[in-house]
Amino acid sequence: MTAIKDVTTYNNFYEFGVRKSDPEVYAHKLQTDPWRVSIQGEFEKTAEVNFEDILSRYTLEERIYRLRCVETWSMVIPWLGFPLADLLNHYGLTSRANYIEFESVLDPDNLRGQRSSIIEWPYREALRIDEAMHPLTMIAVGMYGEKMPNQNGAPMRLVVPWKYGFKSIKSVVAIRALEEKPTTSWVAQNPEEYGFYANVNPNVDHPRWSQARERRIGEGGRRQTLMFNGYADEVAQLYSGMDLQKHY
Ligand code: MTE
Repeated sequence: MTAIKDVTTYNNFYEFGVRKSDPEVYAHKLQTDPWRVSIQGEFEKTAEVNFEDILSRYTLEERIYRLRCVETWSMVIPWLGFPLADLLNHYGLTSRANYIEFESVLDPDNLRGQRSSIIEWPYREALRIDEAMHPLTMIAVGMYGEKMPNQNGAPMRLVVPWKYGFKSIKSVVAIRALEEKPTTSWVAQNPEEYGFYANVNPNVDHPRWSQARERRIGEGGRRQTLMFNGYADEVAQLYSGMDLQKHY
C-alpha cells in the first residue's frame, strides 16, 4: 500500500487548483455537511437523499486497489465503501438505463479552481451500465480505515480500478441513469487525448506520452503498466469484440 501521507498530499482535484499540493492546502473549504445526493433519470424511484441515509444502508468493506493516473503515476489504496451496483439496485434501474452519469459538487465561492475554466464545471463522468454494475466498481466513503479526507473526494466518490484515475470522480452530488451516452468533462475538454472508456492500456499511448510504464509513488524506477491495470481477468470480457485503439 502507498503511504497515507502520499495519498493525501499528492492529489488531482482540480476544483482546488491544478498543483498536486493544492487539494490538501485548500480542501478544508469543501462543505460536506449537509451533503445531498440526487438520484435522477431512468430509475424506478428517483430521490434527493442525505449522504448519511445512503451510508446507513451498507456494510462497508475494505478493498485494496491499484490506482493508475492517466499522467503515468500510480498508487495502491485501501478504500472503504460498497459496490455501486447495490446503490443502483436500491433505486431500481429501468430497461432504458444504458449509462450512469456522475456529477461533482459545484461551489465556485469555496472551490477556487472552479473560478477558472480548465474543464467544464461541474466535473462530470460516466460509465456504461455493465461497467457501473460490475462488482469491482465501488462508491468509496473512506480510506485507511477512516472517513474520506476532503482532498480524496469526501464524503463519497467513485472508484473504478481498471480505468485511468480521472474516471473515479470525487465528491459526487448527482447520479443519473441515462439512455444516451453523455459527454464527460475530459472528453469535452480534449476528445483526442481523453476517451470515454479510459481503460488502463499499456498498448495505447496518450498522444503526448507513452502509457507502457508507470511511476509507483513511493518507489524508485518504473513499473510495467498492466492491461486493465491488472484487472483483466475480471473485466476484459466487458470489451470483447471492441477495438481498444478506437475506443480508448
Ligand atoms: N474528481 C473531481 N471532481 N475532480 C478532479 O479533478 N481528478 C481525477 C479523479 N477524480 C478529479 C476527480 C484524477 S485525474 C485522478 S488521478 C483521481 O481523481 C485522483 O484521486 P486521488 O487524489 O484520491 O488519488
